[in-house]
Amino acid sequence: MTARVILGIESSCDETSAALVRVAGESLQVLACNTASQDELHAEYRGVVPEIASRAHLDRIIPVVRSACAEARVSLQQLAGVAVGHRPGLIGSLLVGVSAAKSLAWGLNVPFVGVDHVLAHLIAGLLDHPPLVWPAIGLVASGGHTSLFRMQSPLDIALIGATIDDAAGEAFDKGAAILGIGYPGGASLDAVAEAGDAARIPLPITRLPSLDFSFSGVKTALALAAKNPEHAHRTADLAASFRRVIIAQVLRNLGRALDEYPAATVLVGGGVAANRLLRRDAAALCLERGVALRIADPRWCTDNAAMIAGAGALRIDRGECDGWDMTAQPLSALARGRRGPQARIQ
Ligand code: KG4
Ligand code: ZN
Repeated sequence: MTARVILGIESSCDETSAALVRVAGESLQVLACNTASQDELHAEYRGVVPEIASRAHLDRIIPVVRSACAEARVSLQQLAGVAVGHRPGLIGSLLVGVSAAKSLAWGLNVPFVGVDHVLAHLIAGLLDHPPLVWPAIGLVASGGHTSLFRMQSPLDIALIGATIDDAAGEAFDKGAAILGIGYPGGASLDAVAEAGDAARIPLPITRLPSLDFSFSGVKTALALAAKNPEHAHRTADLAASFRRVIIAQVLRNLGRALDEYPAATVLVGGGVAANRLLRRDAAALCLERGVALRIADPRWCTDNAAMIAGAGALRIDRGECDGWDMTAQPLSALARGRRGPQARIQ
């Protein structure tokens, strides 16, 4: 099998990223990934400002592609294809990446594919690891999505559960804002929680009858607990309890998905997959169930172009290619509201 190198571009939110991945079958090797974060531009607003994000992508897109190629020692002429995250996301931000990717593919006369960002978070677990055993239950927990999937193969996937309100990462960010511990807050809350006692402050674990998730109730419970004079000064304990109930809900649904749909592997990705408690507890759950666990390496959990290059490479390697009319879309076909067979992406 000949290995080929694919360029991936990610610009769906506030990271401008370019990566080169070598593909041979389901083997995906990251040669370089260059990501320019915009956290400092949005911090004062405590959220991503779309207009600021798209302008920053315009400034950064060509430099990140250039430096990824230089780091991998691959010239543009050696590329076998270009992949771009084209949905879901901020439309102005997505358009910058899609336009850059189309121009490059047109100029180089190579295949061009659009990649669903949610699917890419799952494919992140395949990067730099041996191919895994299918079928799998996939879990994406990020700032925008918390979803469960049945996966027959990397590209044959169906949605089986999704959040009905906030995403897990969004809840972590809002929880961190309530506790006054930084923006974006998921990683800081995780670090603070390590030193806390998760049993000291009781918060409720949300249990829906379906495989769906809901995180808005625990956010309110945290806000009330943080106002209670008995707990107000216990930031680490509040963070630990909050983290415990979010991760417990995620893993409860993961366990129920495994009951319903037997699988050989659990595949986890998205920014919240970097969470230390989730990584520990998912390992324990999978050990108990006798299934393999593949969680994306922490550097591939948050938004990056390596996962986009990887997901696109799987399609390009099979001879697939999108038309020039493929464009940016704010919503994902893999998100809530598109259940069962309609959610299949091929
Ligand atoms: O996947 P991602 O980079 O962007 C989206 O596609 O949304 O995820 C970002 C989210 C943010 O909400 C961030 O706070 C959260 O992932 N996050 C974490 C951790 N690291 C990042 N949440 C909990 N624990 C972490 N260690
Ligand atoms: Zn993401």
